[in-house]
Amino acid sequence: MKIAVIGTGYVGLVAGACLAETGNDVVCADIDETKIARLNRGEIPIYEPGLEPLVAGNLSSGRLRFTTDVAEAVRASHIVFIAVGTPADEDGSADLQHVLGVATAIGRAMNGGKIVITKSTVPVGTAARVKAAIEAETHHPVHVCSNPEFLKEGAAVEDFMKPDRVVLGVDSEFAGRVLTDLFSPFVRTGNAILLMDVAAAEITKYAANAMLATRISFMNTVARLCEVAGADVDMVRRGIGSDGRIGPGFLFPGAGYGGSCFPKDVKALIRTLGEQGIDASILEAVEAVNQEQKGLLLQRIIRRFGEDLSGRRFALWGLAFKPNTDDMREAPSLVTIPALLARGATVAVHDPAAMEEAARHLRDTVEYFPDNYDALAGADALVIHTEWLPYRRPDFPRIREALKTPVVIDGRNLYRLDTMREMGFEYYSVGRAPVVPGPA
Ligand SMILES: NC(=O)c1ccc[n+]([C@@H]2O[C@H](COP(=O)([O-])OP(=O)(O)OC[C@H]3O[C@@H](n4cnc5c(N)ncnc54)[C@H](O)[C@@H]3O)[C@@H](O)[C@H]2O)c1
Repeated sequence: MKIAVIGTGYVGLVAGACLAETGNDVVCADIDETKIARLNRGEIPIYEPGLEPLVAGNLSSGRLRFTTDVAEAVRASHIVFIAVGTPADEDGSADLQHVLGVATAIGRAMNGGKIVITKSTVPVGTAARVKAAIEAETHHPVHVCSNPEFLKEGAAVEDFMKPDRVVLGVDSEFAGRVLTDLFSPFVRTGNAILLMDVAAAEITKYAANAMLATRISFMNTVARLCEVAGADVDMVRRGIGSDGRIGPGFLFPGAGYGGSCFPKDVKALIRTLGEQGIDASILEAVEAVNQEQKGLLLQRIIRRFGEDLSGRRFALWGLAFKPNTDDMREAPSLVTIPALLARGATVAVHDPAAMEEAARHLRDTVEYFPDNYDALAGADALVIHTEWLPYRRPDFPRIREALKTPVVIDGRNLYRLDTMREMGFEYYSVGRAPVVPGPA
């Protein structure tokens, strides 16, 4: 099939490469000329494991190409995916200007009947607006469907190639047949293709992200109780996660959720509910808990070292909002770092993939270290924001020797309490008792 993907960010690039991998002719279009130039040279503008060989292989086989000419991409294709960004507007609603702008561009370029699919996360009712925007420009017939994307950054290729399920909101039997055919190579082991109406598909995406965000904020609340009660949240997590009705996923407490999806999607769903006169207090609570949680590591630092941090130095391991990505959008580290700097501290940082992205936000206000151990020298404490694998089993004696004081403030519960006690650290984690060395 001939396919256009409009918007070549995390979602569009992964979708385009994976659809090409299954034999389709795919053209990915983006208005960002620099990005397209890099992609045409075989350079991948984002850090995403497994994506580079997939793009390179399909570029060289000719099944995948990149262009800045959206109209040409539309004309060359029977199926057009819209995968542009839908950031939060000032009032929290999803900003649809890019999606509707692309819809108008598609309408103007229509040279025959097409199926247009919104892959961007969009509020219920958007497909109807996309259809109206296209039909305002053309008399060619168009089906507008919804195929929300559930991939996780850091495992995006794997998630796209082997999805738990594919959700297809379709406007007709014809579109349902064509899209089922298109996605069937990805569900060969029997995972479901769920055909539904377009509105249900649009709501499914927000409901999924809001549910996951709710689990995280719920566990962060439970973690607060554990700290006060002297209980270990890890035990509670296992205790509830082993209940088949609850399941183990997304129950880890931490320094708050970030990224390009949960924060904006929770806000947008609150907005949609409000517009429909439906009480959104459950999600308002989820968001409020998360806002507070993103300040947790700063609070821990202040409690330990005082409000005035002038002359203090902190080493930060992990900047990205989660491991295996360089995405810094809404990362909790971007809450901690400016607050430390404002209180007079200096900050030394390390991240295995996100330092370049981080520098776009932090510029030269912090010191960047390509080796995580080098960042520790002379620091008052090590502060961990992201659970990258290389941080999980570090050289503890080396950490202790490099730090000025052996204090570790961990927002991801990476280490065992008994290990930290034995190693002589003062250790603060989330929902677990602090380790404070006393007389032997
Ligand atoms: N990133 C994720 O993990 C993820 C997962 C599931 C769903 N989503 C959703 O998918 C959508 C895209 O997210 P993303 O993270 O890939 O965004 P992104 O910001 O990484 O990429 C969006 C791309 O669209 C391009 N663009 C904007 N306007 C355009 C136009 N008029 N024509 C052509 N290209 C245009 C931008 O230049 C950019 O390259 C969002 O709605 C997001 O909520 C994202």
